[in-house]
Formats: sequence, C-alpha cells, structure tokens
Amino acid sequence: MGVTNVSKPRLAPDARVELSLAALRPSEYTAALIQVLQAKSATVQGAKVLEIGSGSGVVLAALGELGAASLCGIDIEEDAVASGMLLLAELGHGETAELYLGDMWLPVTGRRFDLIVANLPHFPMERSDVPGRLPTWSAGGCNGRALLDPFLEGLDAHLAAGGRAIITHNAFVDLGRSREIVAACGMALNVALTTLVYIPEDKLSRMTASVLAVQDGRAIHRYGPYAFGDMHIVEITRHGAAG
Ligand SMILES: C[S@@+](CC[C@H](N)C(=O)[O-])C[C@H]1O[C@@H](n2cnc3c(N)ncnc32)[C@H](O)[C@@H]1O
Repeated sequence: MGVTNVSKPRLAPDARVELSLAALRPSEYTAALIQVLQAKSATVQGAKVLEIGSGSGVVLAALGELGAASLCGIDIEEDAVASGMLLLAELGHGETAELYLGDMWLPVTGRRFDLIVANLPHFPMERSDVPGRLPTWSAGGCNGRALLDPFLEGLDAHLAAGGRAIITHNAFVDLGRSREIVAACGMALNVALTTLVYIPEDKLSRMTASVLAVQDGRAIHRYGPYAFGDMHIVEITRHGAAG
C-alpha cells in the first residue's frame, strides 16, 4: 500500500487513520456544492446550518467562511467527525460548530435549521470498496436512493420556516422521484447548477447494470475509456420561498 500525504494534522500516528483522512478528501461533487453555496452567500449569512454526511468538514468550513451563524455536522464515520472538528477549530469556527457521530437525522431529532446541505452517497451501486474511499462514501444502493429518500423525507421536520436545502443530485438518479417526495411535503425542487463529473472506471464498473444500461449516452457520457456523468446541485424550498 502506498503512502498518501495529507495536509491536515494527523489525529494519531496510525496508518489506518492516515488512510481515512486521505479517503475523506473533497471531490468534484464537493466543489460544485461549494460553488453554489458561494453564489448564494446571502442565504448563508446568519443562517443556522446543518450538513448531513460532513466528511472532511470542508463544506461546513466554507459555510463558516460565508458567514453562517452556527455549523452542525453529522457523519457516520468516526474519522470524519474527528477530521471535521479539527478543520473547523483550525479555521476559527470551533465555537460555533458541533459535530455528531450518527446516522442521518438521528442526532438532530426535534431540531430545525435555516439551511441544510448534503452531498450524500447516492451513486447507484451496492456498498463496496471503491479504491481510495471508505465503503460509506458513495454507495446509494441499487437505485441510488437508499440515503437520498430518508434525507428528502426528513426535510420537512428539520427545515425552519423559510428554510432551504441545497444538495448534490446525480442526473442518473431519478430527479422526478425526488421532486415528488418533496412536493408531498409542500416543497419545490429546482436545479441550481448542472455540471459534469468524472466517473473513474473502478466506480463505473460497480454501477447497477440496469441503471447503466438506461443512462449510458444520456446522463453518462463515454469517450473511449473515460466516462463523465451529469450532476445537479438542487435547491429545495417550501413553495413560494425560492430566491
Ligand atoms: C460523498 S461523501 C461527502 C463528504 C463531504 N460532505 C464532501 O462533500 O466532501 C458522503 C459522506 O456521507 C457520510 N455518510 C454515509 N452514510 C451516512 C449516514 N447514514 N449518516 C450520516 N453520514 C453518512 C460518509 O461517511 C461521507 O463522509
């Protein structure tokens, strides 16, 4: 196994931890999500924000820099929570940040937030070891919806009045179904940005065969050995609250 350099302080002189930190590195999805949050900085200023699946903590860090009043993160991986806490403390957001080790909405039962962001695992594949990532990083189950659906279904109970959610959404995961789920709670889903993300072969080869068969040439674009997927950043608001 090669040694991977990480620019963050190590949590412990332990190879597994070092690997985990490298595995938490931001992706093109992370970058696109931050791009949209930067463009909507007025929405972030003074907001109580929550991120589900906070990973390295970098999205929360960006929200802190954009002027969020408080930062709350949840992740199922212990190393992600530790890494996020370190990053936020390093950047001076330790006082306004709280991070929880837990599953989806559980750590924030009964609480509401002005802005909820997520870059959830929602690649259509069963949980598996994609090289360089933790098994919990990308896999969204056979149709990509294993975490997406409970996330969307929980928004109504966790968004403050006038609040909004901004999330990554692969175009090869049914956007219409996501619209239906939030519409059932009186919310609207709009696409804020569509971009292309590179899909490495070792990830594409794990994609649910039936999804790949339908999406190849539609939301998945192949050029020889290289593949890209359309990916949306979507904004979910209560009807009439978009802006
Ligand atoms: C695609 S990564 C995104 C990480 C980070 N937000 C970013 O954009 O770089 C998905 C994150 O969700 C976390 N995760 C997976 N299942 C989860 C669950 N049930 N509840 C909370 N977090 C979860 C993973 O550990 C991982 O950090």
